[in-house]
Amino acid sequence: MTASRRIVAGFALAATATLAWADFPDKPVTLVVPFAAGGPTDKIARDLAEALRKPLGQTVVVENAGGAGGTIGAAKVARSAPDGYTLLVHHIGMATAPALYRKLPYKVPEDFEMLGLINEAPSVLIGNNSLPPNNFSELRQWITANGSKVNLANAGLGSASHLCGLMLQSALKSSLTTIPYKGTAPAMTDLIGGQVNLMCEQATNAVPQIEGGKVKVFGVTSSRRLTIAALKDSPTLAEAGLKDFDVQVWHGLYAPKGTSAPVLARLNAALRAALKDPDLIKRQGALGLTVISDERLDPAGHRRFVETEKQRWAKVIKEAGEYAD
Ligand code: MLT
Repeated sequence: MTASRRIVAGFALAATATLAWADFPDKPVTLVVPFAAGGPTDKIARDLAEALRKPLGQTVVVENAGGAGGTIGAAKVARSAPDGYTLLVHHIGMATAPALYRKLPYKVPEDFEMLGLINEAPSVLIGNNSLPPNNFSELRQWITANGSKVNLANAGLGSASHLCGLMLQSALKSSLTTIPYKGTAPAMTDLIGGQVNLMCEQATNAVPQIEGGKVKVFGVTSSRRLTIAALKDSPTLAEAGLKDFDVQVWHGLYAPKGTSAPVLARLNAALRAALKDPDLIKRQGALGLTVISDERLDPAGHRRFVETEKQRWAKVIKEAGEYAD
């Protein structure tokens, strides 16, 4: 074939590929949530699904695939067809799992396409209402006196609640008994019921229970106090005595590696439009969340952020000596 025919053939192929995606999405898009329904990751994904419907012009559904600190759901998406119809909403666990799981069935960031960061969420250290301590100072003494008799719920190794609990135990130099769940929604039921003592839960899920008087608050994990009514009088754990304690749980959107550039661009544009939705911004703000509007909304910025966080948490996890096979 002559050079000019090869060039024409190349353009024809490129045009065909672009045309093939021109009507994407032409069927419902699925957001996989790697935790049980009703938890903060699930709530954030459902909120995002609602806001994505208009810019995508398609139905967006949420599918829960919980277990193993979010790694089961993340692996499911990594293995999915790279066609843009199966996406992952996941949080800080994307950056921590590589340091926690020796046999992780996917690589971060290699096995994913970054579509942009969604938000940053503070967590809150909460306890069952019948616990004897009523503030962080009393809690610290109670933990010192009771040690591993105190139990702490989380959503599995690598979950945000696990990482926050890891940092809490390292800061207190205390080892608590940790009880894993498939998500912090089922854990919250046991916390309120008294089957478990404490949990470090994202504000998304904790705020409604705090407003309902169902749990007691010992402190927020962000470096600055929150301004929302339910938590404006709650100290940060840093001011309560855990110097430099700062845990922000970020959430991002991901597609499987190999998803085509036109589809990635379409999905990123839809995410940008969704995160400009004033109702979404208001709803998330009322829970203490910050919707992303900076360079981390670019796939390259999102990837850089995940790689930085991966290094940061690898150091914290190594120091804490936590691993899973
Ligand atoms: C976590 O602890 O990782 C999440 O908050 C769990 C969840 O969203 O259920």
